[in-house]
Amino acid sequence: MNPVNLHIDRPTADDADRLADLAAITFPLACPASSQPDDIAHHIATELSAGKFREHLADPTKTLLCLRDGDRLDGFSMLIHGDPTDAGVRSALSRFPTIEVSKFYVHPDHHGQGQASTLMQATLEAAAQTGVQAAWLGTNNENLRAIRFYEKHGFTRVGVKTFRLGAGVEHDFILELTLPER
Ligand SMILES: CC(C)(COP(=O)(O)OP(=O)(O)OC[C@H]1O[C@@H](n2cnc3c(N)ncnc32)[C@H](O)[C@@H]1OP(=O)(O)O)[C@@H](O)C(=O)NCCC(=O)NCCS
Repeated sequence: MNPVNLHIDRPTADDADRLADLAAITFPLACPASSQPDDIAHHIATELSAGKFREHLADPTKTLLCLRDGDRLDGFSMLIHGDPTDAGVRSALSRFPTIEVSKFYVHPDHHGQGQASTLMQATLEAAAQTGVQAAWLGTNNENLRAIRFYEKHGFTRVGVKTFRLGAGVEHDFILELTLPER
């Protein structure tokens, strides 16, 4: 699919439903094969609802970016400002201040076509503009596509953290990237 009018912008509250719709499509792709469908559905309903996105959009400690092709919302990222409070994550990271790339989702119609890289470049630029030294994220240890994607963009594996999905405990790799000095 050729992007006609690919661009990145900051979503508004009017995009909350579209963000939730896209998250519902892409979150299952980030989960390991062992995840229970009920747990995935519960997470989508509680953590990735339009209401949650409205809260994120109104939160000054979060920055969301959208990838659009014309009127279509095909991807989004969310940065969480501030150093992590989790002691395990903190001890894995080497550079502070840092910022979390907390969500990074692109519609499967656009995987493997470079659009995710466009969104990543804009996300890292937005991160760097806040004055931090580094960015970090967690991604499931079975999400090989995402791991390869992040490593391609300069992130390196620095640790492991656990992630609860329903009754299951999943393992996320912690990845860190040093941002260029400004
Ligand atoms: C993660 C995501 C943003 C990456 O976007 P993308 O367009 O798929 O990324 P790219 O195609 O540029 O890069 C993926 C790389 O993984 C490789 N890859 C794909 N499947 C793979 C697999 N099963 N094992 C190892 N590598 C794999 C691709 O070949 C490519 O590497 P290459 O460019 O060296 O050939 C996108 O796949 C996505 O939104 N996935 C669903 C949601 C998700 O997992 N988000 C991350 C949550 S932390």
